[in-house]
Amino acid sequence: MIKGGVAILDFGSQYTQLIARRVRELGVYCEMLPGNCEWSEVTKLAPGAIILAGSPYSVYGDDSPMPPAEVFSTSLPVLGICYGMQLIAYRTGGRVEGGHHREYGPAFLNTLESNLFADIESGQQAWMSHGDRVTEVPEGYTVTASTDLLPVAAMENIELKRYGVQFHPEVNHTVFGLDILENFLFNISSLEANWDMKFFSTRAIEYIREELGENGKVILGLSGGVDSSVVAALLHRAVPDRFVPIFVDNGLLRAGEREEVQKTFGEHFGMDLITVDGEDRFLSELAGVSDPEKKRKIIGRVFIELFEEAANSIPGVTHLAQGTLYPDVIESVSFKGPSATIKSHHNVGGLPERMNLRLLEPLRELFKDEVRELGRELGLSNWMVSRHPFPGPGLAVRILGPITLEDRNLLQRVDRVFIDYLREENLYDEIWQAFSVLLPIRTVGVMGDERTYDRVVALRAVTSTDGMTADWYKMDPAHMAAVSSRIVNRVNGVSRIVYDISSKPPGTIEWE
Ligand code: XMP
Repeated sequence: MIKGGVAILDFGSQYTQLIARRVRELGVYCEMLPGNCEWSEVTKLAPGAIILAGSPYSVYGDDSPMPPAEVFSTSLPVLGICYGMQLIAYRTGGRVEGGHHREYGPAFLNTLESNLFADIESGQQAWMSHGDRVTEVPEGYTVTASTDLLPVAAMENIELKRYGVQFHPEVNHTVFGLDILENFLFNISSLEANWDMKFFSTRAIEYIREELGENGKVILGLSGGVDSSVVAALLHRAVPDRFVPIFVDNGLLRAGEREEVQKTFGEHFGMDLITVDGEDRFLSELAGVSDPEKKRKIIGRVFIELFEEAANSIPGVTHLAQGTLYPDVIESVSFKGPSATIKSHHNVGGLPERMNLRLLEPLRELFKDEVRELGRELGLSNWMVSRHPFPGPGLAVRILGPITLEDRNLLQRVDRVFIDYLREENLYDEIWQAFSVLLPIRTVGVMGDERTYDRVVALRAVTSTDGMTADWYKMDPAHMAAVSSRIVNRVNGVSRIVYDISSKPPGTIEWE
């Protein structure tokens, strides 16, 4: 745990994670805690400041989440955002009411002299999202901003270092939002901007060495994806002689992936990479299976069997490392309790318990883009760290219906043409995830003078920030035309290309 950052108390707002992102972007470490946690949880972080975030609840509701009382008497600087400001008002003698105008969207702020608004001109746009409002500030507080509709848009008590804003400084639509956060973190709270991936990697390496002790030895399931690749680079830096990555080739990878992993980790880094050739085993167990859930279960089971077999051949292993990230951790610390959405690839099926290994999760404090930055810091190529996410079950959930070797080869060829095209045209980095899906149907076409009866491929490209929701990527029709004819010209057996225009929800990103 890193001391001296910011403790952000979460009361269930959709924006809490965004506050954490912004604070870290400004170079200050922060952690989110459930808003109704014990004060001891907060002090454990030894924070230099506290942010009370927003909430869909009303402060006067029966079941509304309440922070520990010490939040209102601490000498640490406190910034309340939206519900957070209402909490400060409600709990320290002010007044909060509902039943006025609800306000969602832009508003223009009249700001007064305040060190929270230092160097920010009055009259700029802020983003509102609230039903309730503060109608009376507590004694000792002054109103520092208002809008035409809202008499108290910000309030403060300089002596107590307690600040509140009704709007959301963390969203981009609040044009000076980052300046406000900067003023709070650096001018008001005197925090230092020392959080970057160099700082993190030094710390993480110490942590790994400490965890392993003198004689510990760690293994990792390397998939070729970003997270496990970065964990591998980190473990290699920390304990090069006591780290063994295990790469299970399940025969359902992207074209060239196995070679790429071997080149990067085996040759470039010189790791003791164990490659398990699982293609035959996976494909034969999957033969004839169409149901997506059955496919996933089979892949999960066979993966564990092969991984365990490989792991058992290595003497003296004490730890299993995993690429769990902060958003997965947040999911399970939310004040509403653990949610069921933890991704399956973070669930190695009880392996650590079964093998009597201790779990090592060195990335559990990081967001995805921080992981990418860390990867670069540790010497991974930009190509590797900026790759799109790829599901654990791989191409199995992109070949609809039963899987055959021929179809796997066909899809690998199509996907390579698609992805190469996106890279060539500099579209790859605008897209969260792009891939091809092989449909289990044939359609009629005509090539040269011949009538064809070949396969249909769907192309999918989506934009997203976390994969939880997504929109289809509005690809320029000229690019669609070019990539479609390139695929049909280069890959025998495909005569028709369709483009998926579903968002998530109601669709999912993958087709199965
Ligand atoms: P969906 O299809 O649920 O995907 O919208 C959201 C994100 O998760 C990935 N995904 C998976 N990852 N095992 C994984 O490791 C899986 O079974 C799995 N299913 C989906 C998907 O590629 C997208 O990034």
